[in-house]
Parts: sequence; structure tokens; C-alpha cells
Amino acid sequence: MSFRLQPSPIVRPNRCQLFGPGSNTKLHPKMAASAADVINLDLEDSVAPSDKETARALVIQAINTLDWGTKTLSVRINGLDTPYWYRDVVDVMEQAGDRLDQIMIPKVGCAADVYAVDALVTAIESAKGRKKPVTFEVIIESAAGIAHVEDIAASSPRMAAMSLGAADFAASMGMQTTGIGGTQENYYMLRDGAKHWSDPWHWAQAAIVAACRTHGVLPVDGPFGDFSDDEGYIAQAKRSATLGMVGKWAIHPKQIALANQVFTPSVEAVSEAREILAAMELAKEKGEGATVYKGRLVDIASIKQAEVIVKQSEMIAGS
Ligand code: COA
Ligand code: MG
Repeated sequence: MSFRLQPSPIVRPNRCQLFGPGSNTKLHPKMAASAADVINLDLEDSVAPSDKETARALVIQAINTLDWGTKTLSVRINGLDTPYWYRDVVDVMEQAGDRLDQIMIPKVGCAADVYAVDALVTAIESAKGRKKPVTFEVIIESAAGIAHVEDIAASSPRMAAMSLGAADFAASMGMQTTGIGGTQENYYMLRDGAKHWSDPWHWAQAAIVAACRTHGVLPVDGPFGDFSDDEGYIAQAKRSATLGMVGKWAIHPKQIALANQVFTPSVEAVSEAREILAAMELAKEKGEGATVYKGRLVDIASIKQAEVIVKQSEMIAGS
């Protein structure tokens, strides 16, 4: 038990993060008009090396000219192991204006990666007189990233969110799969000759959630590559939500509604949470710390569990 209170993350809906290549201008107005809470204009792996410079200019133009409503607007820069990242930060920060909310740093392997980008962003904000500080989101997608996940979560006051990037993570870990998230054919246990599939992403997700919750950062589930498989996406998203993640990426527009549905607490869940709070209020009046709700124990910890659901629902309704 610690006497220190757990810090609260930034208050914003983050149920779905929609990605689109920075170079594909056809998609930008569709992204702006979508129902995603967060937009990630990509300069990294969905943009070919020959298009990096053009994509940067197109992203700046999209930020400055389109109506992004109340969405959180984020640009994914290139990784710190490339020659592109510093120019991504400088050009976007100097030319995109105050509508830019956030920078996404991919392939973060240690806290110093975030420090390096922070130093550059802080200098540009100061030089340009930018009023609104830019927040950071990072992707954990390497063995080093997961090994240093807590340091990374604590690396900067700008840290707002952290995602698991399943594809690069699998490659870095040497995992025998080309799948991006979801069930993996060979990750099963046998019982009485029958296969029972397990979740190879689970431990990395749980480590991310713990690091994020310790340091007031939003934990987010990353991409699900097979966008023809709605059921698979929903199953993965439900597991993530159960573990404490607040949202998931969409790499195709059909995944937006799925994420919004899973990461918006259901009417039933909210009404049950409110009933638990009411039951505990009655118990408190009677001087009891525990009571029975629908045949099961609820106690003071149940108040905190129920409040997670009610607060999330109120925040989304109010946004
Ligand atoms: N954002 C908004 N709209 C999108 C979109 C996106 N990311 N991807 C596709 N659309 C639109 C298409 O333009 C099309 O619109 P239309 O009906 O008006 O013509 C519609 O959704 C259906 O698209 P579809 O034909 O099924 O897909 P596609 O072949 O055009 O594109 C991808 C498929 C995967 C190439 C594309 O979705 C994409 O680029 N996704 C993002 C990839 C990315 O950013 N990766 C980096 C993070 S992992
Ligand atoms: Mg990646």
C-alpha cells in the first residue's frame, strides 16, 4: 500500500484512434468527418520513404485547413532510428498551429527517447509562443519498450497515452507470427486432446496498463490488422477493456463503430454500477462496510470499481 494517490490521466474520450497515411489526402476529410475520438495522421510506416517529405507537408495542410471538430488531433512522427523524425517535429510544430494536440512517438525503447523529443518540442513551443502544450502518446512495440515500460510511462509530463503496437512488437520479440493482434493459431493449450487458445498479447497489455495507471497515462490497445474480421476485433477489444484499456486503434473506418461500442460502458453496466453505489450508500447508513447485491458480496472496493464505469460513462456523455 502506498500513501501516494494514483494520478488521474488526461480527461478525454479515447475510445477509437483512427489512422490514415499522411500522404493520402483523399482520406483526410473522411477522417475529420469520422466518429473517432482521436485522429492519427501518419508520417511513419504507412508512408513510403520516397513520400516522407510530401506527406509532412500534406499533414500540415490537413491540420490547418480541415475542420477536425473536437477530436484529439495527433501526428505520428517517424522513429528516432530514422533520419526523418527531427524534421517531422520541427516542421509540424512550427507550421501546424495550435490545432495540433498531440505527437505520437513510435518504437519508444527507453525514457530518454521521450526526453529527446520533449526537448525539441519544448524549445519550439517557447520559440513560437505556442499557448497550448502538445501532449505525447507513445507506442510500445519492441522488446526494449516493454522492458522499460514503467520508465517510459513516467518519462514526461506531456505523456497522455500509450499503445501496444502488435506487429512491430511481435517482430522485435521474434514471435513466430505475421498476425497483427488477435488469436494466434499456434498459441494454444491442450486438454483431453482439445485445443484451447490463449492470448499471447495479454502480458504486454497488462504491463502497459499497470505502468500507465501508476503514472496517470491512458492505456490503449493498438491495431487489429484483419479488418474483415469484426468478431475478432470485438473479442480483442473486449479483452483490452476488461484489462483496463480505454480504447483501440482503427486502421479501417469499419473498425470505428466497433471500438466506440466496446469502449463506451453499456447502459446495463452503468445501471448495475449505479445500483451497487446505491446499495453501498444504504449499507453506509446502516454502519456496514459490506453488503449483498444480487447474491454477491459488494464492499468499499466495489464503490471504486463501480465509479470507474460511471465516471467513464459520464465523461463520454459529456464530451
Ligand atoms: N480513414 C478514413 N477513411 C478510410 C480509411 C481511413 N483510414 N481507409 C479507407 N477509408 C475509406 C475509403 O476511402 C473508402 O471510402 P469511399 O467509400 O468513400 O470510397 C472506404 O473507406 C472503404 O475503403 P476500402 O475500399 O475498404 O479500403 P481501401 O482499399 O481504400 O484502404 C487501407 C484500405 C487499409 C489501405 C486503408 O484503410 C488505410 O490506409 N488504412 C490506414 C493504414 C494506416 O494508417 N496504417 C498505419 C497504422 S497501423
Ligand atoms: Mg509500428
